[in-house]
Amino acid sequence: MRFRALVALLAIACTVGWAGPSSAADAALPHLVRQGDRYALMVDGAPYLILGAQVNNSSAWPSMLPKVWPAIEQVHANTVLVPIAWEQIEPVEGRFDFAFLDTLLTQAREHHVRLALLWFGTWKNNGPNYAPAWVKLDNARFPRVKTAEGDDRNSLSPVFPETLKADSAAFAQLMRHLRQVDGERHTVILVQVENETGVYGAVRDYSPTAQKLFDQPIPPELAAARHRTGTWREAFGRDADEVFNAWYTARFVDQVARAGKAQYDLPMYANAALRDLFGAQDPLTFSSGGPTHDVLDVWKAAAPALDLIGPDIYMPQSRNYERALDLYHRPDNALYVAETGNAAAYPRYLFSALGHQGIGFSPFGLDFTGYSNFPLGAAKIDGETIQSFASDYELVGPMSRLLAQLSFEGKVWGVSEPDDVHAQELTLGRWSAEVSYGQAQFGMDPPKGNPTPSGGVVIAQLGPDEFLVTGYHARVSFHPTEPAQKHMLLTRVEEGRYEGGQWVFERLWNGDQTDYGLNFTSAPQVLHVRLGTW
Ligand code: DGJ
Repeated sequence: MRFRALVALLAIACTVGWAGPSSAADAALPHLVRQGDRYALMVDGAPYLILGAQVNNSSAWPSMLPKVWPAIEQVHANTVLVPIAWEQIEPVEGRFDFAFLDTLLTQAREHHVRLALLWFGTWKNNGPNYAPAWVKLDNARFPRVKTAEGDDRNSLSPVFPETLKADSAAFAQLMRHLRQVDGERHTVILVQVENETGVYGAVRDYSPTAQKLFDQPIPPELAAARHRTGTWREAFGRDADEVFNAWYTARFVDQVARAGKAQYDLPMYANAALRDLFGAQDPLTFSSGGPTHDVLDVWKAAAPALDLIGPDIYMPQSRNYERALDLYHRPDNALYVAETGNAAAYPRYLFSALGHQGIGFSPFGLDFTGYSNFPLGAAKIDGETIQSFASDYELVGPMSRLLAQLSFEGKVWGVSEPDDVHAQELTLGRWSAEVSYGQAQFGMDPPKGNPTPSGGVVIAQLGPDEFLVTGYHARVSFHPTEPAQKHMLLTRVEEGRYEGGQWVFERLWNGDQTDYGLNFTSAPQVLHVRLGTW
């Protein structure tokens, strides 16, 4: 017996590579895993779904936290996204202050939530406003982007090593401290490196230093990734300026991430301020060089240290929203909605994000500090606004681990109500599901859409003919897809709930409750559906 145990232990040691006592702690580190085209964020050793809430930009102070937690409690987020500003941790060069982070960690643990930290360093929405004064006021040491006409833009150029050195050093200190105070607990599961990089009002830096780089051949990694050669202009024609800025910005972010990971190897990502998702757009009018969809290949080649790139989706129209999800859900990129609007149009998109194999969804500005980013978001962040997201999270939260696991296995489908179409079809192997919106619960009236689009459904496969089905303001009707399956029957429809990961049966739906499809209202109802044929 003892011999067998020893053999088993040796076998494990050989497969994972025996690295001494720290390897158990390493295995428990949050990390992103890939299986084919699918991803899972592993937290505590199992797939985790981020039901996120980002606080307002200036809420990352101990004095503000009492106005943050009530909103987080109400929304039932499992992960809170909080900025850590360079100016806050290194107000004087070389002197670090992690008091806020320590307070945040303590309070997050008390509130039983995980954290994603947002490194507001060289770039926060293109500018260095969150960099310390000793950085943002020193143009000679930390040069700004120059336009073709020689004007300065309020964005630091990515091509100057001194800026990279200072930013990476600060970020490395942050991650070092984090490992010391949270390396065992993993309250922090994810780190965003910079915030909405890129530059507005210039396509790239035209300073002599940048120009010199621009006139050289493109880097070999980019040449290999994009199958191009020559100088930037030769390789990329009229897109060369944006691609050049994307490469050097991504390279910078990659180096910062690397410096941080060398201290504490947490999953790291960049977020994107989106550009026009369908047609051409003048790069002077979007955050040029940031990870917009058109340069994702460039970012992927330049920044392999990043685990993913997440879109910030502030486009309420369903056509745009779905397009953003499509563009950032790629075989080489796990989909994470890094930010999204907090207005009434947005809560339903959690279901679409799940349908795109999303590992998380994080609405912005959910706290009671009194700020609202209207008209981008809701006019007021009050109980009602919070409740619109709370409904989602209360519904999905208790089964979020199961959904994350099934999603990783390719067994989750999700849709949200489009603006202009009132029924959608999902193919689930040998079954299909019609999801329709704006019908009475009783009868077969045609779907006319909800008064404002608010419906959404998620379906997960539990067995060959068994599905978990839930959602809001929608009807789900199942159909067979194979002619041999002639007549479909809802064999058994259980309503219940998840408690501690276990299904708790409450009742069966039958008769009126199933004759016209499975109707979801504003009530949080979860069904286990078994399908059959006769
Ligand atoms: C996107 C940024 O990433 C956020 O920090 C915030 O500024 C919002 N835009 C607007 O409220």
